[in-house]
Amino acid sequence: MRDLYIRRMALLEPLPRESYLNALPVVKHLAKDGIDFHKQVTFFVGENGSGKSTLIEALAISQGFNPEGGTKNFRFSTENSHSELHDYLRVVRGAMYPRDGFFLRAESFYNVASNIDQMDREPGLGGPVIGSYGGVSLHKQSHGESFLALAENRFGGRGLYILDEPEAALSPRGIIRLMQRMDELLSLDSQFIISTHSPMLLAFPGAEVYQIRAEGIESVRFQDTDHYRTSVRFLQNPESAVEEILGRDK
Ligand SMILES: Nc1ncnc2c1ncn2[C@@H]1O[C@H](COP(=O)(O)OP(=O)(O)OP(=O)(O)O)[C@@H](O)[C@H]1O
Ligand SMILES: [Mg+2]
Repeated sequence: MRDLYIRRMALLEPLPRESYLNALPVVKHLAKDGIDFHKQVTFFVGENGSGKSTLIEALAISQGFNPEGGTKNFRFSTENSHSELHDYLRVVRGAMYPRDGFFLRAESFYNVASNIDQMDREPGLGGPVIGSYGGVSLHKQSHGESFLALAENRFGGRGLYILDEPEAALSPRGIIRLMQRMDELLSLDSQFIISTHSPMLLAFPGAEVYQIRAEGIESVRFQDTDHYRTSVRFLQNPESAVEEILGRDK
């Protein structure tokens, strides 16, 4: 791939002083240094509440995606809960424009599925929308099945894919299938920007991993993330790890 679709995010102007967003590490970092994208796959990893969803949602909205998820053609809205961060973002794009794209939010994927069914109930031009998602209503598949159907059928390459915790629906084997699909899409000039808690996904080769902590955001090796270290320590000796956690090791 000659260029990325998204090269950089920064703040255009300061947020209102009273905004809760100012306290988030991601927003402080955006204001101070901005975030540069160097690789076709970028992960954001950090504790619950560190601001990952806020950050990638604002990026997705700034690129014309529906705040609740979907392609750029989705316009449904069930809850107006997104932050105003996108209004303050300066996003530097590459020279190429993506041909495909999807913003996935694990929390509202159900509404994306409902919206596709709804669109197919209304008379429209062309074939049914669900055709490009594998042909089976996403409501008639399990959470993980419907997500893999999306990645394997609807994601078509030359795309910008912004995914918020894609692992939420997936078994370990499902995560492996997602990684295989990502690899295919990367060879078709795609860029992924992903928030995740999955130590498996973080190991995707050649990805840049930004770890968000209270002190700021740092590009780290996946082996050095808190998520990976905690998981490895646990899985190396689960019995004693659980005993220690529950205070039964004394
Ligand atoms: N409307 C709001 N008012 C005040 N604080 C808010 C509001 N919306 C979100 N927050 C706070 O912003 C913080 C960042 O939330 P965000 O959803 O971006 O975290 P996250 O890193 O995606 O977490 P998780 O890993 O749990 O998904 C949270 O602490 C949340 O409580
Ligand atoms: Mg989140």
